[in-house]
Amino acid sequence: MVVLRGLCVSSSCFRKQNRKQSGRWQFPPANRYHRYSMFKTVLMCPPTYFDVREAKNPYMGQAIDRSKAQQQWDSLRRSLEDSGLKVELIDPVKDFEDMVFAANQVFVGQARNGEKFIVPSHMRYPSRHQEVAFYVDWFRGRGYRVIDLNLGEEYLEGHGDLLWHPDGSRIWAAYGFRSTRGGVEKFSKEMAKMGFPVTPLELIDAHCYHLDTCLCPLNQDAALIYPGAFSTKSLAAIRGGFARIHELTRDETVQFMGNGIVANGRFLTPRLNEHLSQILAQEGLVPIVVDTSEFEKSGGSAFCMKAFLD
Ligand code: ARG
Repeated sequence: MVVLRGLCVSSSCFRKQNRKQSGRWQFPPANRYHRYSMFKTVLMCPPTYFDVREAKNPYMGQAIDRSKAQQQWDSLRRSLEDSGLKVELIDPVKDFEDMVFAANQVFVGQARNGEKFIVPSHMRYPSRHQEVAFYVDWFRGRGYRVIDLNLGEEYLEGHGDLLWHPDGSRIWAAYGFRSTRGGVEKFSKEMAKMGFPVTPLELIDAHCYHLDTCLCPLNQDAALIYPGAFSTKSLAAIRGGFARIHELTRDETVQFMGNGIVANGRFLTPRLNEHLSQILAQEGLVPIVVDTSEFEKSGGSAFCMKAFLD
């Protein structure tokens, strides 16, 4: 293993990636990764008030170690910065123990005319729903247009369930545990007006309660998926949407290896095994391991702890 600023990198992948310039980190050619992997800025929320209280998903039950959580969050932030991304912050709010999961409160997008917009979530758990207003204010203050869907009784949980296809042409949208089918339908109608087709996906495994636990696009042609998370029809839609599908086992999935972050040719992952190393090497991504064990006790890992901005 090679240690890169305190983080482990699989040495074989590292060597392959750096064949031309021995030992020196090199970013891969930009055009290979398209818009999704070209995101330059992420939004994060410090874990100051992070805690596990109400069991909102099957992972929740154990107490967390707050100082360890802070260290893990700091090193995730550092890994994103080391990968060339700018990290913006939103202030944490007392008593909002899940606010650190910055992927959920709004869906962030850019219209074809360049206008930036957000779609505020309606979070299923009332305690989490209160986080949304703080995120909306943050984005409004930075000039994002706020598209309110008037979700009523329907739920929609931001980038937990809504993922851009890596070329920015369309959106994958899941329902079943947190977002509702009706929420996804309202969202789809709005996105259709903006010229973005939305593919609805039904989730059927409670451990894959959010789409970002079981579908992880790596580039516009390839994705990590856990097939058992999806209904038959939904699985067929995913298989039709990517030229290369890499299947994770259920064990890998519940260890959040489908919850990594693609960042400038790197893949930030909570753990790495031979199987994932091979997939990432095939897709030209260099793995960086970031320990997220405290956040996993809340049902989230790296991908859940940030929102991509631009
Ligand atoms: N405890 C949080 C919840 O249940 C975890 C959210 C994880 N976020 C994600 N994007 N999967 O709401």
